[in-house]
Amino acid sequence: MLEIGVLVSGRGSNLEAILESIEDGEIKGARVAVVISNDPDARALKVAEKHRVSAVAVPSDGLTREEHDRELVRVLKGHGVEPGSGLVLLAGYMRILSPGLVRTYSGRMMNIHPSLLPAFPGTRAQMQALDRGVKVSGCTVHFVVPEVDAGPIIAQKAVEVKEGDDEASLSSRILRQEHRLYPRSVKLFAEGRLRLVGRRVEVR
Ligand code: GRF
Repeated sequence: MLEIGVLVSGRGSNLEAILESIEDGEIKGARVAVVISNDPDARALKVAEKHRVSAVAVPSDGLTREEHDRELVRVLKGHGVEPGSGLVLLAGYMRILSPGLVRTYSGRMMNIHPSLLPAFPGTRAQMQALDRGVKVSGCTVHFVVPEVDAGPIIAQKAVEVKEGDDEASLSSRILRQEHRLYPRSVKLFAEGRLRLVGRRVEVR
């Protein structure tokens, strides 16, 4: 059984899509063991509880980044998400990770980002795409490396930018695709079909 830990900060719609894919049997041999939020009020924690998954708030107040991340590792391990065998998913997690945390789960940590990376890394990717006037944007699932939004790309989906789009309309069109792309990527990982070759991810 692949034990998954999900790090969240907000709404939790990607978390929900992954939980539903596991419950539907679309993703087999995996379960979400714990959902951790830096924000105790995040809706994502309610999503976890609704699906009977352990929901843990780990606020960062008064802790250095390294101390906070060590606490995350402690909670992940405490729920069976082991560095050599588990999987950590960032799903709207709004904090920069320490190199130590990234190293601990190297090759076993994924993120979803609302643009076609390497275009528009960082915050408000949809607004960046609108400002730049691209006609196509999308979403990317990638393995996490210390540099933000820069890891080996697992899967991408293109989404059209329409005349008259604003940040909200483009974000929601991309989000619909995120909800399909992230579970599909987790399924590939759970089936052992992803192989890291340098900067590239081979899908078998
Ligand atoms: C998504 O757009 C994701 O790509 C980005 O943060 C947002 C999280 O949304 N990293 P949700 O919390 O999954 O609803």
